[in-house]
Amino acid sequence: MFDAHLVQEFQSLGTPFYYYDLSVLQQTIDAVSTYGLSRGYHVHYALKANNNDRILKLMRNAGFGADCVSGEEIVKAVESGFSPGTIAFAGVGKSDEEIRTGLANDIFSFNCESLQEISVLNDMASGMNKKVRIALRINPNVKANTHKYITTGLDENKFGILAADLPELLDNLDRYAHLKVTGIHFHIGSQIEDQQSFRDLCEKVNSLQPLFEQRGITLQHINVGGGLGIDYAEPDEHSVPDFERYFGLFSQHLELRKGQELHFELGRSLIGQCGSLISRILFVKEGINTRFAIIDAGMTELIRPALYQARHRVDALTSSKPPKIYHVVGPICESSDTFRTDIPLPEVDRGDLVAIRSCGAYGQVMSSDYNLRKRAEARYSDEFMPDSHS
Ligand code: LLP
Repeated sequence: MFDAHLVQEFQSLGTPFYYYDLSVLQQTIDAVSTYGLSRGYHVHYALKANNNDRILKLMRNAGFGADCVSGEEIVKAVESGFSPGTIAFAGVGKSDEEIRTGLANDIFSFNCESLQEISVLNDMASGMNKKVRIALRINPNVKANTHKYITTGLDENKFGILAADLPELLDNLDRYAHLKVTGIHFHIGSQIEDQQSFRDLCEKVNSLQPLFEQRGITLQHINVGGGLGIDYAEPDEHSVPDFERYFGLFSQHLELRKGQELHFELGRSLIGQCGSLISRILFVKEGINTRFAIIDAGMTELIRPALYQARHRVDALTSSKPPKIYHVVGPICESSDTFRTDIPLPEVDRGDLVAIRSCGAYGQVMSSDYNLRKRAEARYSDEFMPDSHS
């Protein structure tokens, strides 16, 4: 990903910054097209993973819809050219204003997460004299085998309607004259590497479909959410996630009814591997049995290690000396501001550059100005083409 020319260009730039390799992104989009869209599946890009304008444009041009979790994301998606008819809106706590934004835009579907939300939405739709498409977000109680902070589909999680509450809800749908149930929605978690979790989800969906059929409710679409994990340890070997296997699994195990559409909401797997956080070594400090490489990026630019104990690969870009063992840490006044502990890196010194890999998803979007730090900029690979200065 980082050839000599690129690293040379980086050296003249202020750090830290996010670097997005558009060729990796294009390969990723192409794989989704080949294995997903070509099957007739619908993919909604989860804006929450990265909402940079350039990225959104590429996702829209790829033929993806949008997956939004706030009113502002809906506004952003529409401004970025996503057709409102492709916008799914999930969220366990939608404010009245956000609901109004969704209603005003006639979005593809409100993914409703509680009985009370359904009732409020119906009242608001009635006030605007509209009939609104909704999908019921059902909590499937399926284990995602991922970090507990990003597990969303277990009974104890706040998301979705409990399967046990469904029969009564479905029996009383005629109370909601301004809503039309067009689909069901699931999202069991994020950074899922165990394919069995997706198989379990398929089986759960299969077991729920008859509940609707018995009541004469036609489900036009099944939305299985997102969650496909990426390889944080070896981002170059697996720069594009295995979409053939992922979509193939749903194709094989999900029993879609005739005419039923299958929708996905992918975030991390689309945008994660194309992004890196480029940072400079400020100081190297010998500790007790440790050696700290103190870099100019911190938890303000990438909070995942501090929040989820995530391990992002760190590559030294400007040293090829024999390796030493380092703790790679940021400058923020918290000990959780640590990217990696005890990793070998070619010996580095003040001024050397490092790349923290797999930062495209949930990196820049989760950044903050804690400690009054300036927001890091985004840079894109096409700025650095050999002839881009001529
Ligand atoms: N659909 C819904 C309803 C979601 O809540 C999410 C992510 C997605 C789709 C997209 O999931 P993905 O394909 O990206 O796994 N900040 C955390 C991840 C939070 C995910 C939130 N929901 C992290 O950095 O790991």
